[in-house]
Amino acid sequence: MHIGVIGTGRLGSFRARALRGLADVDNLILYDQNREVATSLAIELEATAVRSISEVIDAGLDGLVISTSTVDHVTLVETGIEAGLPIFCEKPISLDLSATDRLVRRVSSSGVQVQVGFQRRFDAGFRMAHEKVLGGELGQIYLVRMVGHDHEPPPESFIKGSGGMYRDMHIHEFDLVPWVVGQPIIEVYAEGSVLVDEAFRRHGDVDTTAAVLKLARGALVVLTGSRHNPLGYDVRMELHGSGDSVSVGWDNRAPIRPVETKKSVAGSPYLTFFDRFADAYRAELVEFLRVVRGEIKSPSTVEESRPSRRGAFGAEVWRRDHRPVVVNSVV
Ligand SMILES: NC(=O)c1ccc[n+]([C@@H]2O[C@H](COP(=O)([O-])OP(=O)(O)OC[C@H]3O[C@@H](n4cnc5c(N)ncnc54)[C@H](O)[C@@H]3O)[C@@H](O)[C@H]2O)c1
Repeated sequence: MHIGVIGTGRLGSFRARALRGLADVDNLILYDQNREVATSLAIELEATAVRSISEVIDAGLDGLVISTSTVDHVTLVETGIEAGLPIFCEKPISLDLSATDRLVRRVSSSGVQVQVGFQRRFDAGFRMAHEKVLGGELGQIYLVRMVGHDHEPPPESFIKGSGGMYRDMHIHEFDLVPWVVGQPIIEVYAEGSVLVDEAFRRHGDVDTTAAVLKLARGALVVLTGSRHNPLGYDVRMELHGSGDSVSVGWDNRAPIRPVETKKSVAGSPYLTFFDRFADAYRAELVEFLRVVRGEIKSPSTVEESRPSRRGAFGAEVWRRDHRPVVVNSVV
């Protein structure tokens, strides 16, 4: 299989290495507008670095992976659609809802499969929680608590084009919670502070967040986010229902320390999202190769990702304007 990767920065180089480790991938074609990063990665992976997007498209690909910064996702997905290629694109597809809508229509009329990179749907723990909820084991869901804490903040160059903490980082939770619980988000209340790094304020962003989300059947979700957790990268969920209470991510690498015991985190704490979700990232690419082979449809479509973006946009509006936001009113 020949797979093209456009954008070989932090995520794209990780994707290319993971693809190189999959038996079905014989050839990787890499392109980055920073030629040096694509070339050195190509040497490491015995891949081919090319000098333009059209050279990637003309390389006889079976599938295309888009890992550039968010701003170019829509245009590049459109380029992949024109070439009729199955596409994997990093989240978020766009920071602009109308551009997303146009793309949804384009994807649907083209029949091309596009998979959005929401790797948490492929995490074993979140999948088990999803199945327990759908199987009725938790009964009626009352409350969900969700934590998304980075270890170290991203560089200012990333903050600038990220779209803000709700749309960049919490988009994962806005996708994951409705998927696990099987209920869309209908209303959001969201706050934010700058406590970690003034660079966030310079770009109208925050680095510390707390939000309350209301789901369609009344369940309430409390979500917290931080761009800095001194112990490591922390993503956990608790679900409390009428039949059971379960958690995801409370394993011996969770970077949080009980005060009642002298023990620090058992095992080595998770430090990055690559570390915490290594298996999930691999599993989503394995699924993408199944999409490329035509065995399955996209397990995470552009259309499905629209409500998560609406929720995240709604949270951004609330944080900025301090008013509750009915998610369906976000345009
Ligand atoms: N799923 C996840 O957990 C997750 C985590 C982090 C980032 N992301 C997403 O992945 C994407 C990339 O993030 P990153 O951290 O790798 O950023 P990055 O800045 O490290 O890398 C982006 C790379 O894309 C290249 N690039 C930008 N525009 C390009 C274009 N038009 N053509 C070719 N190359 C181009 C840049 O030169 C850079 O090397 C973002 O959309 C981000 O939101 C997803």
